[in-house]
Amino acid sequence: MSKLTPKPYISEIHAYIPGKAGGAKPMAKLSANENPLGCSKDASEAAAKERANFARYPNPAAHDLREALADHYGLESDLIVCGTGSDELLNLAAQGYAGQGDEIIHVRYGFAVYEIATRKVGATPIIATDIDYGTDVDAILDLVTDKTRLVFLANPNNPTGTLTAQSEIERLQAALPKNCLFVLDQAYGEYMDDDGPQAFNLAREHDNVLITRTFSKIYGLAAERIGWAYGHTDIIDTINRIRGPFNVTTIGQAAAIAALKDQQFVTDSRAYNIKWRDWMMQELESLSNYGLTAIPSAGNFIMVIFADRNDRLNATSVNQALMEAGYIVRHLPSQGLTNGLRITIGTEEENQGFMDALRSILEANGTI
Ligand SMILES: Cc1ncc(COP(=O)(O)O)c(C=O)c1O
Repeated sequence: MSKLTPKPYISEIHAYIPGKAGGAKPMAKLSANENPLGCSKDASEAAAKERANFARYPNPAAHDLREALADHYGLESDLIVCGTGSDELLNLAAQGYAGQGDEIIHVRYGFAVYEIATRKVGATPIIATDIDYGTDVDAILDLVTDKTRLVFLANPNNPTGTLTAQSEIERLQAALPKNCLFVLDQAYGEYMDDDGPQAFNLAREHDNVLITRTFSKIYGLAAERIGWAYGHTDIIDTINRIRGPFNVTTIGQAAAIAALKDQQFVTDSRAYNIKWRDWMMQELESLSNYGLTAIPSAGNFIMVIFADRNDRLNATSVNQALMEAGYIVRHLPSQGLTNGLRITIGTEEENQGFMDALRSILEANGTI
């Protein structure tokens, strides 16, 4: 009898490795770029109110949420589609536009889901080199062939935190073939100093651009899995054909609408993040004699690169020692970052505790 066999290109996928959460021992989780301030009180109250409605399916088109998003960002609600996290929308973009024999480009140090979304549809991931961990638009353009169907780019980028200038984003879009979808992933968009309309204008002006956003990061609603995307009517139509019919829960829709209305929470979260990101950056820079380089970040996390010149002072050993000290950060060897650790900005107590723990670990192991 022949054996049940998955498609060969599915077998090649390495499943997404999420940021570790704590076990029995209480740990500070600085591994998943969540908001340390939680979410808006209004959002949790709106969610609590919807608990009585479990028996009913959610609004299938997330109608009120799309209206609220359109209102807040000055967009057209029929050019918005919501998803089960922006993860779902990234996957649907690949599914809608690429398949076997096609190519999808992403940057070397990019978000892990891009490769999974690419392989899942049988397409081939094509990896662009970076400049100092940031986006090299020319390297991306050099890889474009007649098989290229999609380019994924996060801005700010995860895991490096690097920001690509809007002019570079526009140069990339302008040089891509018109039959290639440009997915600009702005999961950390609200953390940018200038989260203005230019981010969305590119999608309004061109029919091959899709902007994806999420309520998981600055809005602090990661558990509810609410993402959204904005793009040309044909792209939104494609995604609507293949998305799950009830892909955002009733609680998620209600919480997101309330979260959008509470912009004070967003402003406070952004200010908090800048304050502690600056503080952590300074602290990390003061450790450069241990071979550490902290990459300037536009997100709610910082990537630290270790010189790896000492057996005891490298990302693997420091990651292990941090775990033992109660701090979970993100080590991403599967993405080629064997010598890097990504640290999410946490609560005040977590940030200070983390820096104390890191300093002790480094001091115990000597300078490079
Ligand atoms: C760059 C980037 N895009 C998308 C996502 C997906 O977020 P979600 O599915 O929670 O919206 C993440 C999550 O970490 C991310 O870092």
